[in-house]
Amino acid sequence: MDLRDLNVLHWRGAHVAANPGPEPASGQDLWLIDTCQRRVAVLTEAGARPAARREFPAGGSIESFEGAEAYAFLLRFACGLESKLIAETEIFGQIKQAWRSFSERGSPLARRLSPWVQLLFQDVKAIRAQYLGHLGSASYGSQVRRLLGDESVGNGAVAEAGAADGAAGTAAAAAAGSNGATLLIGAGHLAQSVAPWLGGAELWLCNRTAERAWELSRELSKRAADRPVRVIEGGFEAELDAWRRARHVVVCIPSDAQRDPARVAARRAGVHAGGRVIHLGLGAAPTAPWNDLPGVVSLGSLFEMLRSHSQLRARQLQRARHACLEKAVLRSLGATASHPHSWEDLAAFQTL
Ligand SMILES: NC(=O)c1ccc[n+]([C@@H]2O[C@H](COP(=O)([O-])OP(=O)(O)OC[C@H]3O[C@@H](n4cnc5c(N)ncnc54)[C@H](OP(=O)(O)O)[C@@H]3O)[C@@H](O)[C@H]2O)c1
Repeated sequence: MDLRDLNVLHWRGAHVAANPGPEPASGQDLWLIDTCQRRVAVLTEAGARPAARREFPAGGSIESFEGAEAYAFLLRFACGLESKLIAETEIFGQIKQAWRSFSERGSPLARRLSPWVQLLFQDVKAIRAQYLGHLGSASYGSQVRRLLGDESVGNGAVAEAGAADGAAGTAAAAAAGSNGATLLIGAGHLAQSVAPWLGGAELWLCNRTAERAWELSRELSKRAADRPVRVIEGGFEAELDAWRRARHVVVCIPSDAQRDPARVAARRAGVHAGGRVIHLGLGAAPTAPWNDLPGVVSLGSLFEMLRSHSQLRARQLQRARHACLEKAVLRSLGATASHPHSWEDLAAFQTL
């Protein structure tokens, strides 16, 4: 089969999807892919399109693609680039499942499509690996984690020793602090959403109401039982001690004119090479006394990071969409081509 014969019809709309791939009601030889956001029909003869249109729900417009454009659409679809949650990975599994059940029927269309579907799956994997593998998510937690980087990974064994027993524990905990404990201040909504992103690090939880810190600690241990988490108890003095010893501090409480100067002083008095303070309770820019602390990150700076991250993400998605088209053109030049070879091939690229 030549790629020029590939035809795709696409209907977009919310509906109850048939699983895994519905049989065409008309009995026509048609590969139907059904998801809750769309229905797609794949066929190889333009003449069969009118009959295929009858397989779609009434209402909503049907897009139609041919040849390399049809292949590029299938690539975008399978890479999650057509999905509402862009770049989601579930869709590829659904398409593979729909292909499995269609190809088991062993129809003439399934045999004609088979080599192209194998190439399609290969190209989807290549595009995902090259362009979509490191998209990451854009949330407060993911940004905090990115800011702290691998430095947030502490020495768990020492932390557990610290939690286990009195005086020896205190010494061990002090050592742990210098190894990279992260202190999380607060146990409210924001702290709960950030805490799981501090994965791998030795985590110290401190909250005005200690019981809420314990609740958060229990919640975290349900997710990762072997994770070293310690609740800092003993009031404000214990909190200040933790400010001195922790490597990183992530603050998820509002600023407090009474207590913040003591926090800043404790931080300045501590030993924490390369440590950071990320204060999400501050507004756009750090105000006094926080602006006395070198390198403090406020909510404003974090928003700035989120903005540039989403621009980066948009550029990556744009590159992935472009790669879908590039692959489709290459496939239309010859099924096995994976790089442009000739001047004619290069000319074809100039139309992209
Ligand atoms: N939620 C978000 O998406 C979000 C996003 C950006 C910034 N923020 C900022 O982050 C901070 C916390 O927000 P949240 O949504 O987590 O609020 P929340 O669910 O109401 O939790 C408030 C947290 O702050 C603590 N707290 C409040 N006043 C305090 C004080 N005077 N001294 C010590 N601790 C105090 C609370 O401790 P107790 O448990 O003892 O009450 C609790 O841990 C706020 O400043 C908010 O503006 C929140």
